[in-house]
Amino acid sequence: MYDVIILGAGPAGYVAAEHASAMGKTVLLVEQDRLGGVCLNRGCIPTKSFLHAAKLYNHARHGGVFGVVAPDALFDYGIMKTRTEAVQEQLRNGIAFMMKRGKVEVVQGVARIVGRNRVAVGGTDYAGTNILIATGSRPAVPPIPGLADNPAVVDSTALLQADTVADSLAVIGGGVIGVEFACFHALLGKSVTVLEMLPTLCGPVDRDVARAVQKKLEQLGASVHVGATVDRVDGGTVFFRDKKGIGQSVAAERILVAAGRKPNLEGFGLDALGLDVTARGITVNDRAETSVPGVYAAGDVTGRIQLAHFASRQATVAVHAMFGRDDICRDVAVPAVIYTDPEAAGIGLTEHAAKEAGIPVRTVKMPLAASGRFVAETDGEQGFIKAVLAEDGKVLGMHIVGSYASEMIAAAAIMIEYGLTAQDVEKVIFPHPTVAEIMREVMFL
Ligand code: NAI
Repeated sequence: MYDVIILGAGPAGYVAAEHASAMGKTVLLVEQDRLGGVCLNRGCIPTKSFLHAAKLYNHARHGGVFGVVAPDALFDYGIMKTRTEAVQEQLRNGIAFMMKRGKVEVVQGVARIVGRNRVAVGGTDYAGTNILIATGSRPAVPPIPGLADNPAVVDSTALLQADTVADSLAVIGGGVIGVEFACFHALLGKSVTVLEMLPTLCGPVDRDVARAVQKKLEQLGASVHVGATVDRVDGGTVFFRDKKGIGQSVAAERILVAAGRKPNLEGFGLDALGLDVTARGITVNDRAETSVPGVYAAGDVTGRIQLAHFASRQATVAVHAMFGRDDICRDVAVPAVIYTDPEAAGIGLTEHAAKEAGIPVRTVKMPLAASGRFVAETDGEQGFIKAVLAEDGKVLGMHIVGSYASEMIAAAAIMIEYGLTAQDVEKVIFPHPTVAEIMREVMFL
């Protein structure tokens, strides 16, 4: 009898396994594919490798102002892809090592829940005191005629696996996946069109951040249509109406569908448990408990916040709930990053959400050009930081566009999670010269 059986070895599953084993528990981790889940094999990590390479290429081509002249800069997709695979292999080995060190039993195969405490893999039955479901999500396909059986249409998984980079890309869905792939192609000088049905890119992010991401994509040559309605796809042509309702079409070598992801709820015997489930995913409380005692769920399969770092935290909370440690998974301080060039990152309350909810806030905004390092390292980049403060100065939100935004936002996570105020942050010494010190300076406004 294992203390816990975990289904899925993504950032929820393997982190839970590591954590439970560190608490001295016996763990069985079942994975049908490779260790690391979507994040490592088809998401966060390969896209970061792709984007880093494209940014290097673009910086080389436009480095003249810094005295770097590289007229023969070449982008070799094959080399980049081989390196990306090596990076993934290294990280998978790292997870395998952690599992071995923690004496986690890893079984490769399709897990099927056959009872409250029982999971079958192949012909073998395993018993566990607790079960953690961490089966993740997959790309959702919107009901647009012409997407099915169309060789021009790809999802993010297929795009990452492609042997060549497309000369032209149309993207249906201007969320995080859509804009990151749009940015990758635009940095390489490819023709890019983004079609987003909402009035702004990247859904709930700060409106100024969304506008800045759109502007930068357009500066890179991409054509961005927000408020667009995609009517149908025919071969490599997407037919849509723009925000004024005018019919248009765009032809592209590849059409990326990036219109959200849906939870993996099928194929592992979920029905055997009779859990509360909605179309968004398995219903869990803030202790990652499902409606059935002893059964927990974490990560994208819960449909709460589809981010790897939230999945890992939720999984840790699940392990704590199983073994009697007091902990809850809050979602007020969940950073989100968009790895475009430049990066954008945000956390907590946005100015527009505060307004809509009638929450009184003070918003302070500063250009990143107030940072010496930022000016030294960029060429006219229009970065900014925006802090959303409560009337008593408590930091409620932070939103940043510009280089290092992804790394800086971690400091904002601490501020918000621990309820720090502007006055508290003023007392913190930030290193100089960094772009991060602007996080303190903005508090003086
Ligand atoms: P998303 O939900 O972020 O964005 C999907 C977008 O597609 C939305 O803006 C939606 O309005 C639009 N859309 C839906 N149907 C459409 C249609 N028929 N026509 C035009 N637009 C349509 O989902 P996405 O980008 O697929 O990402 C999935 C999840 O993965 C998200 O939760 C995202 O945050 C996460 N992710 C996080 C990354 C990061 O942390 N950097 C990178 C990539 C994904």
